Parts: sequence; C-alpha cells; structure tokens
Amino acid sequence: MQTPEEKKAFVREKFSAISHKYDFLNSVLSMQIDRYWRWYTTRQLKEFPDGAVLDLCAGTLPLSLELTRQAPARQVVSIDFCEDMLRAGVRVLPDDKRRPRIMPVCGDGEKIPARSGSFWGITVAFGVRNLARTQDGLNEMHRVLKLGGKLLILEFSRPKNCIIKPLYSFYLNKVLPRIAGLISGDKEAYEYLASSIAGFYEPTELMTMMKKAGFAEVYCRPLTFGIVTVYVGVK
Ligand SMILES: C[S@@+](CC[C@H](N)C(=O)[O-])C[C@H]1O[C@@H](n2cnc3c(N)ncnc32)[C@H](O)[C@@H]1O
Repeated sequence: MQTPEEKKAFVREKFSAISHKYDFLNSVLSMQIDRYWRWYTTRQLKEFPDGAVLDLCAGTLPLSLELTRQAPARQVVSIDFCEDMLRAGVRVLPDDKRRPRIMPVCGDGEKIPARSGSFWGITVAFGVRNLARTQDGLNEMHRVLKLGGKLLILEFSRPKNCIIKPLYSFYLNKVLPRIAGLISGDKEAYEYLASSIAGFYEPTELMTMMKKAGFAEVYCRPLTFGIVTVYVGVK
C-alpha cells in the first residue's frame, strides 16, 4: 500500500518517463477518440469564452490547446507537477495565436499555486485519478474558481455494457500495456493506467466528493459506452 507521497513520486516519475511518447500513444491507443472527448469537455465551457481558465494536470497541453482553439480570447493557465510533461507539450505547441495564450506552470494540483477566485473555468482531463489526495484536489479546485465558475472533469470510468465490458477489460489489461510498453519503453506506466482505472471511484462517489468540496449543480455524462465520464460542477 503506497502512502500519498509515494504515489505522487511514482506518478511523477512514470509521466516523466513516457512524456516524449505520451501524445503519440494517446492517439494510437484511443484510436483518436480522445480528441472528441477533449472537444466535448471544452464545449461545456462555452459560456465563458474570454475568462481565464485553469487546465489542471495539463500534461502535454492537449486540452489547453483545445481550450484556446474553441475561444480565441481565452487565456489558459496550465498546471502540472511533472515538468517533463509540460516541456514535451511546449516543444510542440503550434506557432500560432494560441501559443501566447497558454501559460504552463509547474505546480501541485493538491496545493494550487493561484489566488482564491481566480478562474471562470477549470478543466482536468485524466488527472483526478492520478491525484494522491482526491478530496484535497477537489477542495483546491473549488477555492480557485470564481463564484459561478464551472469545473469540468474528464476521467476514465468502467463501462457497464455486458458486451463492451469484457472486451474493454481485455484491451486495457492485456493489449494496451504490451503495445504501449513497446513504444514507450515503460510497460509499468501502462499497467498503472489499467490498475488506476480499476481502482478509481464510481461516478456517484466522485460526485459526492465534488459536492463535499462545495460544488453545486453536479452531474455527469458517460461518453463512448462509459469508457470515460465527464463531470460538471458549479461554484
Ligand atoms: C494522464 S495525464 C493527462 C494529461 C492531459 N490533461 C491530457 O488530457 O492528456 C495526467 C497528468 O496529471 C499530472 N498530475 C498527477 N498528479 C498531479 C498533481 N498532484 N499535481 C499536478 N499534476 C499532477 C501528471 O503529471 C500527468 O501529466
């Protein structure tokens, strides 16, 4: 059993090890459906086209890019505690008008380096599952949102459909770690992906935690047979 500090160190090290191949593997392993998931999540912030948005656990910045693509006046602060992931993202940022609107910051999602009430929106794509102290992270997200601001969490969930469930489980546990291990050179990182999805909260549990952090109007929507779920909450 890992302590929270051990989990943090493990997660940071694993993402650092795969940072150079993360985007490529994401596209291949999800057959590019991840683009739709990020597009859908970002669309839920359309009522805040020009307010500052925090992209937490931003990694190589794919969601930060989508946030700036969908709203040309939007400023995004992109926080991640793995510098190598941010660096890999910055290296391939397109040289267009989006670039100056993305500000990468190395920081911890459980102690967000921002003043209370700073953002109109927060997005967290595939990051909440990696937090060592989920409730602390959610409390912090609530703190840094403005009153009326919106939190969007995009996270893996477990499909319930009796045909999809065994197929997905086989893919996630047997196929994916092998392919990803070969390409990234770190099979353990993708075994962690499968085990962290298996061990993650049920959507109802995560929504209860969001409410405990102070969020209102909390609901969730499963996408792609429930392989992922988008959670929404308002401060
Ligand atoms: C699966 S990646 C997701 C990256 C990106 N959001 C995306 O859509 O692909 C998860 C990211 O969460 C980051 N992370 C995990 N725990 C964190 C924490 N406590 N604070 C900040 N970032 C964290 C990792 O470094 C990693 O880059």
